[in-house]
Amino acid sequence: MDLIDKINKLKKEKNAIILTHCYQNVEIDEVSDYVGDSLFLSEKAAMTDADIILFAGVYFMAQSAKLLSPNKKVLLPEINSGCMMADMINVDNLKSFKERYPNIPVVCYINSTAEVKALCDVCCTSSNAIEVVKNLNSDKVLFVPDNFLGKYVQQQLPEIEIITFNGFCPIHQRIRLEEVEAARKNYPNALILAHPECNQEVAKNSDFIGSTKEIMEYVISSDARQFVIATEKGVVDRLNRDSKKFNWGKEFILINENIICPDMKKNTLEGIYNTLLNESNEITIDDEVAKNAVKCIDKMFEITRAYDLKKVICPLCSHEMKKVFVDEINANIDVCEECGGVFFDYGEFEHIEFALENNTKCIDEIDSCEAKTPYKNVFVDNLTCPSCQSKMVKIEKRGTTILECEACLSKISVLPQIKEYRQKYIDDEVFINSVVNDSEIIDALDLLFG
Ligand code: 13P
Ligand code: SF4
Repeated sequence: MDLIDKINKLKKEKNAIILTHCYQNVEIDEVSDYVGDSLFLSEKAAMTDADIILFAGVYFMAQSAKLLSPNKKVLLPEINSGCMMADMINVDNLKSFKERYPNIPVVCYINSTAEVKALCDVCCTSSNAIEVVKNLNSDKVLFVPDNFLGKYVQQQLPEIEIITFNGFCPIHQRIRLEEVEAARKNYPNALILAHPECNQEVAKNSDFIGSTKEIMEYVISSDARQFVIATEKGVVDRLNRDSKKFNWGKEFILINENIICPDMKKNTLEGIYNTLLNESNEITIDDEVAKNAVKCIDKMFEITRAYDLKKVICPLCSHEMKKVFVDEINANIDVCEECGGVFFDYGEFEHIEFALENNTKCIDEIDSCEAKTPYKNVFVDNLTCPSCQSKMVKIEKRGTTILECEACLSKISVLPQIKEYRQKYIDDEVFINSVVNDSEIIDALDLLFG
């Protein structure tokens, strides 16, 4: 039995799940239950009913999983896999920073220790930093530890004064403006996409700035064929793998071959197997620290999921929307029975894609909703997001136009479009990919096109 089979068998025996950050070595995906960015993985850590969470990531990520699932065993295969940015801030220099700027709420990037989180007001990830800062309703905010992410948020929210700590990611900081300029020359048709941990010159000269997840979403919906990526190599490896697997016909080029986080790459299949087998390298957190640190993370979820708790008014026709629980994505979406508007909170569109990709029974609940007067004009300008009140813009997803919030990425569409989108997804990929030989392809095409 090879290592992958052995790990998968152990996972079943021990009721364990493996959460993998997309900067990890790509072969780890073979044993992973979920692969994604910090926000996605922390949501999965909070929701799981597994007994053991093995975190294929770095220390602060495993710590966050433990804070969110305190009664579970959380294991980190390589206990010394840290984060150089997280290590730039500690209790002492954070206290001095807060003393210098008293009585201002402190937003803390999830790349920080539990001890640091315990002294901050709210946490954020690169995917929701803008939404979190905006919803604090304060005209001044302290942002720790990443000064580049803080400055990026500042650009998006000029009405708020953001005072940043001077931390940074030494890996993303390696990316230089000259490399962006060289990429423009060498790949004139490519789009350049950068993570907000990059320095401001790089960000300013890129075509798109977004978190790991946003970059991955962007390339799927873009018509471009070539992309230069200014973030960690793991993202590029996964994108090139998926482009091949799903015939996207897109090419992804890492801006600089040295953009590799050595801590992220410490985990191996062998390390994962041994850790799971021996249930070693368990994460523990002091009770008092955990009590305060978890408040900081909970506050982030409270802000980003605020829409879940309140009634949502349909932005298309102003009727109250009905909450529909969708099993596959384990979340509520809002459906307007009046006009057929469908509102997805952050990330749920991707969960639906994920469910479709895995060929599961999906969104039957949405299918069963019928609109009284189907809304014809979804191309409405000046719509504001029901979740965070930012501007919504039109984007293309598989030939279907939907509206997306510029800040929190929530999406709005209408029922007929969701059904059309779903059908396209099934026609394009899952259905065709699920057939294995010529005669089955012919049968499948017959079935699809009559
Ligand atoms: P994400 O929040 O995009 O997962 O990034 C985490 C990280 O460490 C980036 O360097
Ligand atoms: Fe930390 Fe940078 Fe590595 Fe991300 S890439 S884990 S911020 S050192």
